[in-house]
Amino acid sequence: MTTHEWWRHAVVYQIYPKSFADGNGDGIGDLPGAISRLDYLRDLGVDAVWFSPIFPSPQCDGGYDVSDYRDIDPVFGSLADAETFIREAHARDIRVILDVVPNHTSSKHRFFLEALQSPPGSPAWQRYHCLRGKGDNGELPPNNWLSIFGGIAWTEILDASGTKTGWWYLHLFDTHQPDVNWNHPDIEREFDDTLRFWFDRGIDGIRIDVAQGMIKEAGYPDVRDSNDPALLDPHAKPYFDQPGVHDVYRRWRKIADSYDPPRVFVAEAWLDTPEKRARYLRADELHTGFNFDLLTAEWNGEKWRNIVTASMAADALVGAPTTWVTENHDVRRAPTRYGGRVVHRQVATAEHLALGRVRSLAAMYTILALPGTTYLFNGQELGLEEVIDLDDAQRQDPHFWRTKGEHLGRDGCRVPLPWRRAGANFGFSAQGGSPAWLTQPSTWSGLSVEVQAGDAASLLSRVRAAIAIRRGSQALLRGSFAWDETLCRDGIVAFRRSVAGEPTVLCVANMGTAPSPSVNGELLAASGEVGDGSAHDGSAHNGIVPPDTTAWFRLGPDVAASEHHS
Ligand code: GLC
Ligand code: CA
Repeated sequence: MTTHEWWRHAVVYQIYPKSFADGNGDGIGDLPGAISRLDYLRDLGVDAVWFSPIFPSPQCDGGYDVSDYRDIDPVFGSLADAETFIREAHARDIRVILDVVPNHTSSKHRFFLEALQSPPGSPAWQRYHCLRGKGDNGELPPNNWLSIFGGIAWTEILDASGTKTGWWYLHLFDTHQPDVNWNHPDIEREFDDTLRFWFDRGIDGIRIDVAQGMIKEAGYPDVRDSNDPALLDPHAKPYFDQPGVHDVYRRWRKIADSYDPPRVFVAEAWLDTPEKRARYLRADELHTGFNFDLLTAEWNGEKWRNIVTASMAADALVGAPTTWVTENHDVRRAPTRYGGRVVHRQVATAEHLALGRVRSLAAMYTILALPGTTYLFNGQELGLEEVIDLDDAQRQDPHFWRTKGEHLGRDGCRVPLPWRRAGANFGFSAQGGSPAWLTQPSTWSGLSVEVQAGDAASLLSRVRAAIAIRRGSQALLRGSFAWDETLCRDGIVAFRRSVAGEPTVLCVANMGTAPSPSVNGELLAASGEVGDGSAHDGSAHNGIVPPDTTAWFRLGPDVAASEHHS
């Protein structure tokens, strides 16, 4: 395995376990399926894999409701399968990150089952947030907190005979995801043990779910300014971003640092400014955190430039690398977002998606050229779109069900990958098998790995090519960053990466509507066709980057020093 601090410039591939590959033919992705696709990930060139939760879970929230943090859900396989995955991934130089959920457990976790056996207010309930309700008989919730998935964040506890007790427990997400009380020593121990358990099995890092959560303000005050329960809200919330959470991370950092090589954290902290995010990345806390600013940004050059500048400035203050994310399992897939506005259940047109795919690839070329770590969500490399028109009966996201369909939920980005051009579920299941747990659109035949791998101009081939170039380029991995101020106008995002002893790389992302000025450099790679400009002497391409395209150029020593032509 190569060098330390790999996480400063890695490409990390997120596996949503139910959706990546199915090994046993039940139509649900699993560890044996993922093991069988490790060569695919090696060929894609990723440095690490992050698995969304694979622990035992009733799957009320796609595994983010964990009933046992130190085992594997039988749906995904066994502990032995996890160990095989880790070993086989390492053999291919791929690191492994698992997803720990410390804000809440499943309602089937042993701590909660024990609480349910005990009267409210008794010690077993102190591992959770169990409060007397308001009103004469406690019939009203203890405060005005709302669930991020819709409805109120409290559920009244019933006694053994099913009678209301006037006591309530807190769940910022689904009813089946009770928030744990981080002031309780058992909780601290449960997660210390969990980190060690997985670190001892050789995993390289942990993603921390809802990392701005965990600690609640003493006294459970009402939410004051705005009671929008969204994860991302500029108003302070008594249940998010509390000072005490940093003590937890300082403690966790010591555990990670006690391993050789040190293990790494990535925080899923939804915070509305890069400065707030950077506080989680101080030297004695977490190594990295997701930067979600591009995840929610439109296809707009000026916005991208502002985000890149602000993110890198904030992270530099604490010496952390910046991370870049344009897709994950919680948001609409990029081709759907970038193609134009899609309202609720309205299905995108073919033209809309074609444009969205082109832009999504250009976005990947852009984030792969920025300094720091880039995340790719499984299927992003294929250009899969959000599946809007799933049968409601198939939907599993509690956000859909708790809002009675007002929020379409996140199932549409979790539809299983198409591996083969034909056959039952497009080769998602190794041996044909049952229908996939979410039905794939018939058009995904053309987006399948089998079809795209054989086509040098496909999205998949172009993503592979970009990652390969990045891996071989010290300028792209470790080089300094500077905006190309001359090119940065009219929706163009252009920057240079330079390192001693190598030609500078210039990345030009055209998010505008007119072709870019001609660039005097050697074309390294591009997300689409790049015009040949005026130079026909074969030495340089004088590339003109069309709208919705990103191109990488290698600048000769003379060009790097002087300027491009315009
Ligand atoms: C995070 C996860 C999301 C999950 C939520 C509750 O935001 O990414 O999928 O629903 O936490 O655990
Ligand atoms: Ca399976």
